[in-house]
Amino acid sequence: MNNLIQKLDMLHPLVGNTPVIALSHSHINLFAKLEYYNLTGSVKDRSAYHSLRKAVENGNITKDTVIVESSSGNFASSLAQICNFLEIKFIPVVDPNISPLYLGFLRSLCEEVVMVKDMDESGGYLKTRIKRVHDIIDSISNSYWINQYENPYCAEAHYLGTAKEIFNFSTRLDYLFVGVSSGGTLSGVSRGVRELSPNTMIVAVDIEGSMIFQAQPKVRFIPGMGSSIRPKLLDSCCIDKVVHVSESNVVKGCRALRNQHGILAGGSSGAVYFAIDSFFKNHPSIKEKPEVMFLCPDRGTAYIETVYNDEWVRSKGLI
Ligand SMILES: Cc1ncc(COP(=O)(O)O)c(C=O)c1O
Repeated sequence: MNNLIQKLDMLHPLVGNTPVIALSHSHINLFAKLEYYNLTGSVKDRSAYHSLRKAVENGNITKDTVIVESSSGNFASSLAQICNFLEIKFIPVVDPNISPLYLGFLRSLCEEVVMVKDMDESGGYLKTRIKRVHDIIDSISNSYWINQYENPYCAEAHYLGTAKEIFNFSTRLDYLFVGVSSGGTLSGVSRGVRELSPNTMIVAVDIEGSMIFQAQPKVRFIPGMGSSIRPKLLDSCCIDKVVHVSESNVVKGCRALRNQHGILAGGSSGAVYFAIDSFFKNHPSIKEKPEVMFLCPDRGTAYIETVYNDEWVRSKGLI
């Protein structure tokens, strides 16, 4: 058997099957699926693992391949740890919004970490990162770009995994709130949930200034959510409603999750929590307490010096 597949089999138990916990809330029955229990501590381990595995199975990656990917932190960390275990070279392309913790993590695992400097016209770095990825793959003959923005296996990981796990926990779900960046999570989980529970309302949560669902660009500082482009993976999504959250409210949401529920989570978890709280406060006509679930994509540890640091929040004008 292929040695890479054998090694991927060994990692398999460490990806997915994350816990779900109940949070107390006055208006709704609220549940959080804690994706930071995955291999390297984020939801992106699911798509990294599945896309790498499929590429190995399809013969697109061998032990001599050089893998290249653009990421704001979590996807690169997932690929770095898995590729290191597979003894495959990985070159991450990151930007200045990456947390120093993730940067240190990547530097400990990858010979080369490429940092872009120039912001694109939307106030993010995605387009600059992708341009650099193209330069790198053009210059290395045996390179392979996973392309998390278009790779269907990134979404399939959630269609086959996350969506099914949600209904292992409960047979009824009225609302599912999902944060968006590459769209892989939303695309896969929304298709899976739609099949298993057609009446569940699926709410996509984005950051103000992101170009995914609107065309008003704004400089953004918190990594993990939003995008400078509308990723192709969103073409195959089931979305009932889109909500935008400002970065100041991301900070409020993160701190509310920590202070009211004891969950120290990253920016996208805070954004989604804030979106849920506002949504149900603004819809008092919803009588019976609905069942609501959201994902906590990563832990707050990497955000201690930013979202959880008053000085940083003030310096960015987010208070
Ligand atoms: C912290 C965090 N939350 C949410 C997301 C969004 O996930 P997706 O890229 O699948 O849309 C990401 C993606 O990198 C992330 O890092």
